[in-house]
Amino acid sequence: MPERAHRPSRWQPLRHAALVALALAATPLAAAPPAAAASEPWWAHAVIYEIYTRSFQDSNGDGVGDLAGIVSRLDYLQSLGVDALWLTPFFPSPQVDFGYDVRDYENVDPQYGSLADFDRLVAEARKRDMRVILDLVLNHTSEQHPWFVEAARSRSAPSHGWYVWSEGRREGGMRRPPNNWVSQFGGSAWEYVPAVQQFYYHRFFRAQPDLNWRNPQVEHAMLEVMRFWLDRGAAGFRLDAVSALVEDAQLRNAAPLGGRTAQGDARLSDAYTANLPETHAIVRRIRKALGHYGEGPLLIAETYAQSTAQLAPWYGGARRDELQLPMDTAFGFGDRLDAREFRRRLGEAAALPGGEPLLLFDNHDHARSWDRYGDGVHNAEIAKILATMLLTSRSPVLIYQGEELGQPTATAARVEDVRDPLGITGWPKEKGRDGERTPMQWDASAQAGFTSGRPWLPVATGFEAVNVRTELTDADSLLTWHKKLIALRRGDPALRSGRLVMLDAANTHVLSYARVTSEGSGILVALNMSAQPQTLTLSGTAAGFAGNRFRTLMSSPGEFAAAGTRLSLPPYGAWVAAVE
Ligand code: NOJ
Repeated sequence: MPERAHRPSRWQPLRHAALVALALAATPLAAAPPAAAASEPWWAHAVIYEIYTRSFQDSNGDGVGDLAGIVSRLDYLQSLGVDALWLTPFFPSPQVDFGYDVRDYENVDPQYGSLADFDRLVAEARKRDMRVILDLVLNHTSEQHPWFVEAARSRSAPSHGWYVWSEGRREGGMRRPPNNWVSQFGGSAWEYVPAVQQFYYHRFFRAQPDLNWRNPQVEHAMLEVMRFWLDRGAAGFRLDAVSALVEDAQLRNAAPLGGRTAQGDARLSDAYTANLPETHAIVRRIRKALGHYGEGPLLIAETYAQSTAQLAPWYGGARRDELQLPMDTAFGFGDRLDAREFRRRLGEAAALPGGEPLLLFDNHDHARSWDRYGDGVHNAEIAKILATMLLTSRSPVLIYQGEELGQPTATAARVEDVRDPLGITGWPKEKGRDGERTPMQWDASAQAGFTSGRPWLPVATGFEAVNVRTELTDADSLLTWHKKLIALRRGDPALRSGRLVMLDAANTHVLSYARVTSEGSGILVALNMSAQPQTLTLSGTAAGFAGNRFRTLMSSPGEFAAAGTRLSLPPYGAWVAAVE
């Protein structure tokens, strides 16, 4: 991996500072914060909202979400307080992987609308102070993309070298794939094409041939695609599967790791198929080539790392000339609500040399946090704890549609009902990702207000209670909790740019921290990640505040406040207070 630039950590947790109760003595995580946000890029503390285009809002009754549907829901997104929308791919596609198999990068699939709809979406979003970020599939195209159709016809076709080909090896008179690499969707990662007598590589489904990023023409073509959308008003891109852009030039066999995947293939090391050093040079060139667009388009990347700290190279080291925002999947894609773990991860995020990563709990590829962290009894309280952690953090954050409502993961019970190719090839061990892609729940009417037709995936059960309209009128709902937190995050100077002071580092049940302005005012957060009540003794001055008075801003479950400097947190209690 490229070098990791070092600088002093902004985060040093405090050793246990009190006896039984929590003494909120603490150590600051940052030097003096920037006085004003004016010098910061727009996304520095942004709330980005992921829209799974296919499942957000259908406007024409065909059961599939579309761009016009998104436009009709912009007022909701504005009232929620989001800064930017990330739209999953809406480009023409055979929809084998629901848009992550692109047939034409410079158009809109008719089932999602038209280029005019896209222009309207950008314009209407802009009127509401929201930006639009596109999902760009750089690693592979659809097998139906004209580049590949031509490439698979003849070795002398101009685009033949845009894909990763191999003649394979001969074994007993038979032609075999060149190595043991397997596709994430199951089976060999190589597919034979008789017309050219070669195999092509596909990391994902066989209908998704990998582009050959060692060929400069591919980079050139993709930069053209990016310019096309930036010229139409896109604010940036989420770079799909970016760590997989380049493969080992010698196509060496991958080392077995032992065990089998859900699809029944041998589990293999991805040392030759992911995170190759060449990838960083590519990202750097992309960033540079687009740098002249206004404030510079935001590049978010789908980065999977074992730990937050491993994201460091994606920023480009000390030069900071690669991505602005790697996605920190190590932060929120687990399933254990553990105060020590989250303290550590927030600390790692604060210490990243390039800036804070994009924090998230949910997206369209993972079972929803509602079910992963929920214990089946306290899910609503736990969801509020997660939302509080996310929205009081210093980092830019991502909310996935329906997360703000507590939508459940609704996985199909029968393989015949599965639509995701990953679930079809992996059933029953891997049931696929349909469960987190069910339609957005707008109201209690038929199909949750998503469509007047038959939705492409069934609406999750329980939508009559868990939906936007119902939750907007419920002061205690998860949606109301999100709205209050986002409003606080947008309006409160400490939550915008105050330093993060981690408190009571040895507490195994309660995660608590302060966000403190240079004037010594700010916010204190205490999250009880256990099923038992917990009692804390608060000390504002020890946490860096000027005073010791705690005014409750938000509490869950129910209403509670500190009695002087004593705070009793109910099981899975969340508390946000202003300190004066
Ligand atoms: C990551 C996307 O989020 C996922 O949905 C897709 O299947 C793969 N990349 C392949 O594009």
